[in-house]
Amino acid sequence: MKKTSLGILIIILTIFNVSCKENSEDSSIENKTNSIEKKVADLLSRMTLEEKIGQMNQYNGFWDVTGPQPLDGDAAKKYEHLRKGYVGSMLNVRGVKEVRAVQKIAVEETRLGIPLIIGFDVIHGYKTLSPIPLAEAASWDLEAIKRSAQVAAKESAAAGINWTFAPMVDISRDARWGRVMEGAGEDPYLGSEIAMARVHGFQGDDLSSPETIAACAKHWAGYGFSESGRDYNTVDVGTSTLNNIIFPPFRAAVKAGVRTFMNSFNELNGVPATGNAYLQRDILKDAWQFDGFVVSDWGSINEMIAHGYAKDKKEAAELSVIAGSDMDMESYAYVDELANLVREGKVKESLIDDAVKRILRVKFELGLFEDPYKYCDEIREKEVTGSKEIQDAVLDMAKKSIVLLKNENEILPLKTNGLNIALIGALAADKTSPLGSWRIAAEDSTAVSVLEGMQKYPDNKLTYSKGADLTIGKTEFAIELNINTEDKSGFPEAIETAKKADIVVMVLGEHGFQSGEARSRTDLGLPGVQQELLEAIYKVNKNIVLVLNNGRPLTITWADKHIPAIVEAWQLGTQSGNAIAQVLYGNYNPSGKLPMSFPRNVGQVPIYYNHKNTGRPVLPAPNEVFWSHYTDESNDPLYPFGHGLSYTTFAYTNLMVDKVSNDIFNVSVDIKNTGKVVGKEVMQLYIQDVFSSITRPVKELKGFQMVELKPNQQQTIKFNLSENDLGFFNNEGEFVLEPGEFKVYVGGSSKTVLESNFIIEKQSIK
Ligand code: BGC
Repeated sequence: MKKTSLGILIIILTIFNVSCKENSEDSSIENKTNSIEKKVADLLSRMTLEEKIGQMNQYNGFWDVTGPQPLDGDAAKKYEHLRKGYVGSMLNVRGVKEVRAVQKIAVEETRLGIPLIIGFDVIHGYKTLSPIPLAEAASWDLEAIKRSAQVAAKESAAAGINWTFAPMVDISRDARWGRVMEGAGEDPYLGSEIAMARVHGFQGDDLSSPETIAACAKHWAGYGFSESGRDYNTVDVGTSTLNNIIFPPFRAAVKAGVRTFMNSFNELNGVPATGNAYLQRDILKDAWQFDGFVVSDWGSINEMIAHGYAKDKKEAAELSVIAGSDMDMESYAYVDELANLVREGKVKESLIDDAVKRILRVKFELGLFEDPYKYCDEIREKEVTGSKEIQDAVLDMAKKSIVLLKNENEILPLKTNGLNIALIGALAADKTSPLGSWRIAAEDSTAVSVLEGMQKYPDNKLTYSKGADLTIGKTEFAIELNINTEDKSGFPEAIETAKKADIVVMVLGEHGFQSGEARSRTDLGLPGVQQELLEAIYKVNKNIVLVLNNGRPLTITWADKHIPAIVEAWQLGTQSGNAIAQVLYGNYNPSGKLPMSFPRNVGQVPIYYNHKNTGRPVLPAPNEVFWSHYTDESNDPLYPFGHGLSYTTFAYTNLMVDKVSNDIFNVSVDIKNTGKVVGKEVMQLYIQDVFSSITRPVKELKGFQMVELKPNQQQTIKFNLSENDLGFFNNEGEFVLEPGEFKVYVGGSSKTVLESNFIIEKQSIK
């Protein structure tokens, strides 16, 4: 056979093979789905009304599950319900021994033996922790983020868990809100990419594998827009913000195949999310065709009474189930009220059936019916927990999450020998705070501290001095009250240490428990006496490297003005100190970029890069007052979204836009490493739809790519823009691409350096 015809044959065979493979993969997925649907329908047909409602009931497992049977109170009620088959899921039962104990009751003592789905807040790890999610988002590294979720799934699944209440995909523009630490920041595009990466990481390709767990997109919806950043507060947002800012990461999670959703504590435009049929039915289940289930947030069904939306628990149950909340977390509303509501004709049994089908479907997909104890293997638990594979992944994630905010006179990286270094700040030696506030399975004091990390570089002299305690006494649930605002007795020793040092490394910021749920703050400065400590040290030694540990953007305007180097190190999890030391010493060249704008002062909040222009965006003439501004502070953030430096520098040139068709454009740009060391840069592409039927943001992120370049190396990088990037949701809920001028910007932050434009000729509507 001639070479060419052999080539053609190979191509044909390859195409045929690929399409056969695809067909057979498609049909095997279809067969699996059909068989699960059949099994669900069969099981449902054999269930009593009470058993069905039981599947919709989730309890927190607070009693000693492996101890004696509880005889009275709440625990006794839960235990009795469990044995009757009136519990479909438990949360906070963890460890193979405990999970096996409750699963055994469900499987062996109930009439139908339906296994429990075991939920847990595996937010950024189980026992071995990755950085807090906001920090992970700062890496912009989707592979590393996926990997971090993958190892979190593996470690928690080995401890009996098969469902995580993560990822939180709430967009937030308000650093006062303590839960910004749990999300991916202020941008819907970055947030959507990260939502998909995390869902894929947790769930993998095969949900029935004992190394993957079901994910949960939360909190549906609007939770990150609570008024004044106060947790649980009222949310009132317009259609455009809802469709274009809040919804996209949730839609992306559905696209990635997320199996569950959690609704939220807040009301949205007057209707609590838990009782909100527009969110749960119209959008999620009807428009987006989501076929997994929705769990309420903790007690959120009952909280509709306090909201002033339901008059009692019974009405709360009725409103929630009608609105599409499938599972009740800890309100006891469904288990106590739903059967009567059905009998009274107030709730159709078909709604119960729909909810139960969704829950059973996920249980079948997890493989729980084939083997309810598949997540209960003591040997695997022992081997996997804290394994090298997991430690390596969380260390990698931690290094990639660090953002170099400022580095004057190349004070960083530090030399590895011959330096006399003073390490100052209580957080520098803290082995608990880096674990953050969501670390319910990790033991206290299991993080590597900065002190320990830096001690691994023995050729410098390192002297540690605390300076001041950040907190006083036990901190867990009363962190605000326990901040040290008075005791400066440690200052003199720290000042003396700093005087003798070549370089001072100060680790300051928030304690891990100072951000997270219910940790809203009105002051975003360094808490307690830390600002005074910083200024006192600065008086005696100006060579300061400030390492921040925090769960949210802080107002560090004084530090930015005076301190030569600032490293944003968030709460980085178990390997925190190792990651920080490796970055300080240049073993790892930082490449993180901020996923949230840092305000200059709290009065600027909410502050975000993708704002609208207003009718008076710029100073019209010198000394003019009537334009959109503050009289006492600039409009600009201290550090913009997307900002982050490297130990090298990059130059962007030659931005070109090529039209492929009406709504497809190729963008290319040259980037060169103009510094002295190898470095990675997250190149960011933004657009602006200049005029449209509803006003659009001044800039919107629509693409990013990470490139690694050697000194002097130059590369041309290509981006692609299509209808999905260029269109938006109008106020009728249609996705439209409108004709007219678009601008395109490229650079290393949202303060981009290059600009071009292009024209869309024709309108399109979806
Ligand atoms: C939080 C949820 C969490 C749930 C279970 C609630 O207070 O809002 O995000 O998953 O508790 O722990």
